Amino acid sequence: MDFLTLTLIILATQFMNLCHGAGIATYWGQHGGEGTLAAACATGNYQYINIAFLNVFGNGRIPQLNLSSHCNTSIHGSCRWIGDDVVACQKKGIQVLLSLGGGVGTYSLSSTNDAQEVANYLWDNFLGGGTSNSRPFGNAILDGIDFHIKLGLSKNYDTLAKSLSSRSSTHQTVYLSAAPHCPFPDTYLSKAIKAGVFDYIWVQFFNNPSCQYDTGNSTNLVHFWDKWSTANAGLIFLGLPAGVDAATSGGYVPVDVVVTEVLPEIMEGPKFGGVMVWSRYYDEKTGYGAAIKGGLDGGDGGGHVSSIGIAIILN
Ligand SMILES: *[C@@H]1O[C@H](CO)[C@@H](O)[C@H](O)[C@H]1NC(C)=O
Ligand SMILES: *[C@@H]1O[C@H](CO)[C@@H](O)[C@H](O)[C@H]1NC(C)=O
Ligand SMILES: *[C@@H]1O[C@H](CO)[C@@H](O)[C@H](O)[C@H]1NC(C)=O
Repeated sequence: MDFLTLTLIILATQFMNLCHGAGIATYWGQHGGEGTLAAACATGNYQYINIAFLNVFGNGRIPQLNLSSHCNTSIHGSCRWIGDDVVACQKKGIQVLLSLGGGVGTYSLSSTNDAQEVANYLWDNFLGGGTSNSRPFGNAILDGIDFHIKLGLSKNYDTLAKSLSSRSSTHQTVYLSAAPHCPFPDTYLSKAIKAGVFDYIWVQFFNNPSCQYDTGNSTNLVHFWDKWSTANAGLIFLGLPAGVDAATSGGYVPVDVVVTEVLPEIMEGPKFGGVMVWSRYYDEKTGYGAAIKGGLDGGDGGGHVSSIGIAIILN
């Protein structure tokens, strides 16, 4: 391989890395009728998938997953197949994170020690540590942890985030994401976000009348987007319902409005990461993610950057 070819390959790889930023994230796990995780990844529509939820943890509780009817960890090995799906997704370059929290469950972190213990549990059971038989998804190593904290106390999530982040090594990065509501700052996550260790923030611009899209009017959404853009995090995503039924208190933005009005207003900033669609179940029914995907090209770190990389290789 000559020097020029090598240089071009390195450049192209760097462009590809940049391009990994823009894309679509979603949540999988809250509805038995949404198909498998691997099928979600096979659509090619998503770059990030959060497995939802680990909805019991902290304060000495035995952590529990709630993956609706997909599987139940109290039946030994019943969730193992998800590990195979995780690996299949990762082979396609999709990052798979475990989401903590959700709107139903029992969770809180009673002290910094408790936060450390939960971090240890996550590391041993879902991330790079431990090879125990009791890992719910077997030996699959998830890409990171999503903080979807909507209940309980807000304390000690900064400690949990820092503890998880500190386990990143040259060998393996532990990615961290947060899913705050759109009012800024978020009640549960602002302190953790301020710690500056989150790679992605998918802000929920739905079920929040004060900051979401209102029929024909994106003023509030854009106003709060600008506030979130100042958050100390890698990439910020616009979180939207994948259909009218996906949000109980509104926030649905029709496809043409997202593509022609909303995205052009927000995607130029350096931290724009893409869109989070809630959830895989609704997205499968509506095709929302697939329909807005084209509108994401041209954002910072978006498709145009990777085409430069490819053009160089072809030349
Ligand atoms: C699991 O979560 C769903 C909703 O997300 C809820 O309806 C159900 O009661 C939960 N089950 C358990 C055992 O927590
Ligand atoms: C799993 O099964 C156990 C025993 O049947 C049940 O008590 C528990 O609620 C189930 N968990 C979920 C998340 O559905
Ligand atoms: C859009 O919403 C903003 C904020 O609520 C309001 O001030 C503005 O008048 C609205 N614009 C239109 C055209 O209704």
